[in-house]
Amino acid sequence: MSDSERSEVGLETVAPDGRPAAEQPKWRRDFPVDWGEDDYVSRRDLVKFIVLTSGAFTIGQAWLAVKSLMGSPTPAAQSVAIAGTEELAVGGAMTFEYPEGSTPRLLVRTGSDAFVAYDQQCTHLQCPVVPAVADGKLHCPCHNGWFDLETGRPLAGPPRRRLPRVLLEVRDGTVYATGVEDSST
Ligand code: FES
Repeated sequence: MSDSERSEVGLETVAPDGRPAAEQPKWRRDFPVDWGEDDYVSRRDLVKFIVLTSGAFTIGQAWLAVKSLMGSPTPAAQSVAIAGTEELAVGGAMTFEYPEGSTPRLLVRTGSDAFVAYDQQCTHLQCPVVPAVADGKLHCPCHNGWFDLETGRPLAGPPRRRLPRVLLEVRDGTVYATGVEDSST
């Protein structure tokens, strides 16, 4: 900042003895302390600060987006054995976790070679659903909600979203969970 600019904004250095700069000792002229300027933030400094801050924020957001796109596959994408085919009679059901530590999932044997699995929590208020295999449905007793056993779609009652489906594969007498479908798809 020039001397005239400093003078305009009232930032002239005033020595403790009050004498003008020309009458100050050489050491004071060589090392002036300008307290007023110390507090002064120019428009350019402010713009620099805003640009740097928002630049850092944008880079951070971009980094998070790239990381989420390139991140390691979710544990739910792994293939995990959940039951032997002979463990369940046709019409039978069992609960399991997939991936480990998940909310309970429900595996239902709907035919000699047919299995389906869903998240057991009702999509209304999360009561556990129970299979009604003879009717081809899953029932939520809390508010009498009903879901289609083959698709997990809501059929009646308060639920509006379908049950998240666990993808299955049957190989060599074992049922494997291989992933979880989003209930919004
Ligand atoms: S919690 Fe299932 S219908 Fe309300």
